[in-house]
Amino acid sequence: MSSSRAANPATDPAASRPSVTFPHRHLLGIEGLSAPDIALLLDHSDHYVDLNRAVEKKQSSLRGRTIINLFFENSTRTRTSFELAGKRLGADVINMSVATSSVKKGETLIDTAITLNAMHPDLLVVRHQDSGAVALLAQKVGCGVINGGDGSHEHPTQALLDALTIRRRKGSLEGLLVAICGDILHSRVARSNIHLLNTMGARVRLIAPPTLLPAYAENLGVEVFHDMRKGLTDVDIVMMLRLQMERFHGAFVPSTREYFHFYGLDYAKLSFAKPDALIMHPGPMNRGVEIDTEVADDIHRSVIHEQVEMGVAVRMACLELLARHLPNWRGTTPPGL
Ligand code: NCD
Repeated sequence: MSSSRAANPATDPAASRPSVTFPHRHLLGIEGLSAPDIALLLDHSDHYVDLNRAVEKKQSSLRGRTIINLFFENSTRTRTSFELAGKRLGADVINMSVATSSVKKGETLIDTAITLNAMHPDLLVVRHQDSGAVALLAQKVGCGVINGGDGSHEHPTQALLDALTIRRRKGSLEGLLVAICGDILHSRVARSNIHLLNTMGARVRLIAPPTLLPAYAENLGVEVFHDMRKGLTDVDIVMMLRLQMERFHGAFVPSTREYFHFYGLDYAKLSFAKPDALIMHPGPMNRGVEIDTEVADDIHRSVIHEQVEMGVAVRMACLELLARHLPNWRGTTPPGL
């Protein structure tokens, strides 16, 4: 469906390319996305990286649209970057903080969703502490839904921004050896990354103590290591994860000091990886627990700040591609939408 307001290719990178179809109304996880779906999201994100580095960042492709950020869990990067992404695309963005909402008065997730739905948002970005909660909510609302992290299940935009960071540095994901290290058990970032990297032809190693690995780790199409030196040997990418203590029920590690000794990334352990291996971390970092502070700040190896930059571009791409499914999308809509 085309509309009277034509997009301007000079200011809107999406308008200068042929219309493309992302064949999903929601982005609930990486599982279920095909390699072309992921490549489309990453190609689209590349354009927004350039736009975000320009002085004039504002676009109008989501003008008139409303995005609600509904975060039931704390967040710095994800919520802020979704807000920035929506605003840069011209949308009105509302941040719902659960701490001050009726959820605190006992309203259920579904009632909250239905209430917000009655205000006609176009897209909802939801983070929730329970795995599967975002998918459930998506069934109850009429708008597009993006998963901003559900329990220890999935965090699709984090995996996409990690992939974009790697692809821009290394040229391609295919054939790379990627080590994901630390608290895999509680990590939605790890799960989304495993799906994405496997789909895009990278090889994944998980490095963790047995207590911080899911029982089914071997079935995820990965190699499992319990020793950092062995696991890091010859890897191209080292992805560190935070000990997610807020999800711990019981003691999973003897002490953070001992954990750092065996699993914290320092230069001695890093020396087993390829000399040009990149260091990544989704944040927030616990310095001295999973990563040595000097390694985290190593300007030659660490791409942790670049990941944050890529996060805004990826979220713009996700919002814009999902918005193409909305009624009266003003861009050139491909046949079949
Ligand atoms: C991650 C998350 O929330 O899952 N953080 C993020 O979104 N950048 C990882 C974490 O909390 O450790």
